[in-house]
Amino acid sequence: MYSLRKPVKKPVLRSLLATLLIAPAFFAHAAGEKAEVLHWWTSGGESAAVAKFAGAYRAAGGIWTDTAIAGGDQARSVAINRMVGGNPPTAAQFNVSRQFQDIVDQGMLSNVDEVASKENWDKILPEPIRDSIRIKGHYYAVPVNIHMPAWIWYSKSAFKKAGIDKEPATPDEMFAALDKLKAAGLIPLAHGGQPWQETIVFLAMLANVGGKDLYLRVIRDRDAAAMNTEAFRKVLLSFKRLKSYVDTGSPGRNWNDSTALLISGKAGMQIMGDWVMGEFVAARQVAGREFGCIPGLGQNAPYLIQGDVFVFPKTANADQLRSQKLLAGVLVNPVVQVEFNKLKGSIPVRSDLDASQMNLCARTGMEIMKDKSRHVGIGEVYLTPDQNGALTDALTAYWNTNIPVEKVQKSIASALRN
Ligand code: GAL
Repeated sequence: MYSLRKPVKKPVLRSLLATLLIAPAFFAHAAGEKAEVLHWWTSGGESAAVAKFAGAYRAAGGIWTDTAIAGGDQARSVAINRMVGGNPPTAAQFNVSRQFQDIVDQGMLSNVDEVASKENWDKILPEPIRDSIRIKGHYYAVPVNIHMPAWIWYSKSAFKKAGIDKEPATPDEMFAALDKLKAAGLIPLAHGGQPWQETIVFLAMLANVGGKDLYLRVIRDRDAAAMNTEAFRKVLLSFKRLKSYVDTGSPGRNWNDSTALLISGKAGMQIMGDWVMGEFVAARQVAGREFGCIPGLGQNAPYLIQGDVFVFPKTANADQLRSQKLLAGVLVNPVVQVEFNKLKGSIPVRSDLDASQMNLCARTGMEIMKDKSRHVGIGEVYLTPDQNGALTDALTAYWNTNIPVEKVQKSIASALRN
């Protein structure tokens, strides 16, 4: 277990300490290795977090060029197009998912087996992450964090104003709290109306209302009989019911603009990944003081596992190869892992780190990670990009228009059939 020094009060001193701890390991090899890193971390919290990677890479002697493209779908398309066009970045962000399997199959990525075996990834990575990046025995991506995309966030001041004195622990209690927020004239649910955000809210309902068994039967096994059950119908109705708590400004809104509504106390709740915490941290709000975080409704609610990875496009350029190697080492460095994840809202991908420096919500997540029986992957872990896209289309259509639930059950079954 890596134990990190006690936090130093001044942030400047802290990053200096991090620099000093990282530098000796890399300076020996580094000589101005240039890395262009493509990612979609453009919100306040995300930018602060990725700056830690950039700072650590520079401290290790490299030269970091940041290519930030807003929106995961857009950023991934640009990365793939550039690889296909023969002008790839040094590294590109993807999710823990099957999003990059095609480019692996086409031989476009270098494997990162060297760093994987040095860091013992077979042992220290959680299974859903390890299985998604290890393809035919080789590792094709460097994982940098574990995100849980379906947390329920709430504003303490909004809860107080609405007279909610207990965190909801069941779906019924969640709806009762939303009713109270509405009655108090607040925006009950801050939702960013974009298809991927609707998919997240649906997965949260599938996990919390449907439970782990149903979740896996639908999302992992693509079991048509499960999609035909009364239990699944109830999940879809609960999902749609949430729409009635959303404000008129929701369509098209970014997730972080929804979080801003919680930060200002105008809205009560948001169902979204723990990257939200990065926004609270950037706004100097503290978990347990200004905001609360609920990992799931009930003690044994499934814990959805997602994460970010970087892939390394294959290159014959020896300079680029050196840059990729240097970058891979920096990304998984234990000190960098803690510094980055504290700002990102995620938890370190390595299970051998000391959690004491992480905040309340991250520590809760790290504790739950110890209980494997609660782990499930997100849709993208089990589904191909096409299946996931078709599921998202069906859910967005249901959320935004009036379609009978029975019809949606059928369209989801057909989206997941192939
Ligand atoms: C996810 C990613 C997170 C977060 C989020 C919103 O796909 O895993 O790191 O950045 O998008 O941008």
